[in-house]
Amino acid sequence: MTDLAPQTIFLKDYAEPHHWVETVHLTFALSPRATRVRSKIVFTPNDKNTGDLILNGEQLSLKSVTVNGAYVAYDTTDTHLTIKQADLPQEPFTFEAEVEISPETNTALEGLYMSSGMYCTQCEAEGFRKITYYPDRPDVMAVFTVRVESELPVMLSNGNPQASGDGWAEWHDPWPKPAYLFALVAGELLAHAGQFTTMSGKDVELNIYVRKGDEDKCAFGMQALIDSMVWDERVYGREYDLDIFNIVAVDDFNMGAMENKGLNIFNSSCVLASPETSTDATFERVEGIIAHEYFHNWTGNRITCRDWFQLCLKEGLTVYRDQMFSGDMRSHAVKRIEEVLLLRARQFREDNGPLAHNVRPESFVEINNFYTATVYTKGAEVIGMLRRLIGDEAYYKGCDLYFERHDGQAVTIEDWIKAFEDTTGRDLSHFQQWYSQAGTPRLSVEETWDNGTLTLSFTQSTPATPGQDVKKPQVLPIMVGLIAQDGTEVVPNTILEMTESSQSFTFEGLSERPVASILRDFSAPVILQREMDAKTRAFLLANDTDPFNTWEMGRMLAKDTLVAMIVDGTEPDPAYLDALKTMLSDTRKDPAFRALCLALPSQDDLAQTLTDAGVTPDPMAIYEQLEELRHILASAFKDILPALYADNDAGAFKPDANGSGKRALRMAVLSLLTLNDGGAAARNLFETADNMTEQAGALTALLSAGTGQEELASFYAQWFHDRLVMDKWFMMQVAVAAPLEAAHIADKLTQHADFEMKNPNRFRAVFGALQANHGGFHAPDGAAYKLLADWLIKLDPLNPQTTARMCGAFETWKRYDADRQAMIRTQLERILATPNLSGDTTEMVSRILAA
Ligand code: BES
Ligand code: ZN
Repeated sequence: MTDLAPQTIFLKDYAEPHHWVETVHLTFALSPRATRVRSKIVFTPNDKNTGDLILNGEQLSLKSVTVNGAYVAYDTTDTHLTIKQADLPQEPFTFEAEVEISPETNTALEGLYMSSGMYCTQCEAEGFRKITYYPDRPDVMAVFTVRVESELPVMLSNGNPQASGDGWAEWHDPWPKPAYLFALVAGELLAHAGQFTTMSGKDVELNIYVRKGDEDKCAFGMQALIDSMVWDERVYGREYDLDIFNIVAVDDFNMGAMENKGLNIFNSSCVLASPETSTDATFERVEGIIAHEYFHNWTGNRITCRDWFQLCLKEGLTVYRDQMFSGDMRSHAVKRIEEVLLLRARQFREDNGPLAHNVRPESFVEINNFYTATVYTKGAEVIGMLRRLIGDEAYYKGCDLYFERHDGQAVTIEDWIKAFEDTTGRDLSHFQQWYSQAGTPRLSVEETWDNGTLTLSFTQSTPATPGQDVKKPQVLPIMVGLIAQDGTEVVPNTILEMTESSQSFTFEGLSERPVASILRDFSAPVILQREMDAKTRAFLLANDTDPFNTWEMGRMLAKDTLVAMIVDGTEPDPAYLDALKTMLSDTRKDPAFRALCLALPSQDDLAQTLTDAGVTPDPMAIYEQLEELRHILASAFKDILPALYADNDAGAFKPDANGSGKRALRMAVLSLLTLNDGGAAARNLFETADNMTEQAGALTALLSAGTGQEELASFYAQWFHDRLVMDKWFMMQVAVAAPLEAAHIADKLTQHADFEMKNPNRFRAVFGALQANHGGFHAPDGAAYKLLADWLIKLDPLNPQTTARMCGAFETWKRYDADRQAMIRTQLERILATPNLSGDTTEMVSRILAA
């Protein structure tokens, strides 16, 4: 019997399962094409919702089923195994089954699969059903015991090791967990070991397992893990709860990493790091992701989600936690700017297009398509707003109450919010609307000055999003400060709490008219529309005490300059060039911060800005004017660039905030310097650099200046054996290619012997870079649209999840002119017409086309 086409699932239809699970015993007899999985599951009927036993199961070859050791009648489809209530005991019973699966041929990388000779699993969100029949839903939490049988030297699963012998190992996880947190790994692996003693004095064994050859890339990740464990104890009072914590690096992985209980599995690109092969950005990412997955142990594992609509409960909160950790480890100011850049680039883009959805969606076809910027980064912003509104003390008290009240449970956003209502006595029902209303609010502000009183009058409105025409005002914490003409701050950080569509706030008793610094630290995820002359911007750029707004003023000056250049060819205002030059030369300012100030807005950002202003963006003009501005900056800063370059040599490589900040500024400077010196400095650095940040930085500077082919070849000769560096080699060439060459270069790279479409990192290196190269992706001939569609069609039958995610490349198509829209529509319709297209990709393309 076969099931119907994929169904839409609704939040409002949530119902408890008919059966709960007490314990699960699994035995895996591993074999590449015929792994046997025996399961023994103790079920208890749910008195509150009785009915048939319904188990999920996909792509399983079923060998046997019994209930309490005896034959039972059952029914199977492509997706389920069902036993009629009438055929079951109305008391706890033991279900046993045996299935066969084929990890070696599993290219979807979901369930049990093989990567470079090792067995590994990925079960979130709904991958466990490809391992055995089970109620694969997060509200079913159970205690797992796992036996692994194979000839491989390392065999791992969740929890604590229980027993082992020749050819087998047993693991027991005492903490009840949903099936999506199950994990198993087996292979010829080496451990980089570490140790941690928790705040209550318990010893924990730590390991990072890798393939031979990667042992020397584990030390940084291990330190990041220890730092995360210390941080979660110190800041949230959360202690680790098993005798062992294992991390495994896997080459083929759809995502970045996964928080399986006691056995985190990582994309090797997100855990391995060494100075020679990894950039500062990679080090920062490794540190952040290790923290993120570790923090899930409390926010996600001990307390999990009732259903997948609550995904932001664990992801938004855990992203917020990893952001705070990274800020503490490095610089809050720099981190905040990076967060906002990402939020605007990904989440605002999503919110402005056909894929806009609530932080807590109300329906989905394929949950894998909802691991989005909105759930993650807007979900994190919502937590940040909550904290600003109630204050630090109440925030941590509320978290404590949440952990205490819900430990061991599968809960909802309502439960999360209730913990803070009960802590503060506040009614947070209006605030909670952030979870159920999509779209980015536009916030405008007007100032009036009257006799010592400054009035700020705000108006908010949110544009319609798919399926949500009418929007209500949101609760906005707007952080402001007031600065006197002499640069002193007369009113320090103050949170204005806006709840209405229009609302005014007054500041009285001021002796002179101050300059308002509004939306400090980007205190709410809105688009601020504020009329400001260049003089006021320059004043805030020079005098604001809030680093985010200081940077924001520079960014607005840059954007206005570029928009004017693109729209009517206006030359850049010398005042902008002077302000930027002053900022760059101000050695009292953090080099990382100055590097961020020197970075120009991205092409995609400019395309969205133009769209918002009612102008159809011309990708070629955007590309050309950005290049033009780069040349103008290079020439205007001619006299300071060589010294900036020399002074920011960080010396011996250390991947810390200080060293990486200097290198960031140095590489940004080098990119301009290369336009002046014919590439001499970059060539020299390429030859002499002892770290990947500078080697890749030098190569990128050369390639962006239209040269560097010789260096590109020698980079290949030096690194062809290192797959993570080779990802950079693939990525770099496409990322910096000129618009009319990008598709051609990407196409050629797919024919390279080292291109492997089955490896998501390699696929994304080429096609992620192609979609991120705005001018190249939107080249007038449409070659990039067609090339991407060709490859998405090829990848879909092998790996639907990665294919579906990459469809987001087309989400902005309605911004562009009729010709481009027609070309994109043709490609989207071609993808959709592909026979046997996966449900994942079908859902994404349909939603994008529905725009
Ligand atoms: N739980 C996710 C991993 C995941 C995502 C599994 C989607 C299945 C489907 C994990 O905690 C996560 O969020 N990973 C992020 C990195 C993180 C630092 C935001 C990732 O993989 O990109
Ligand atoms: Zn996560």
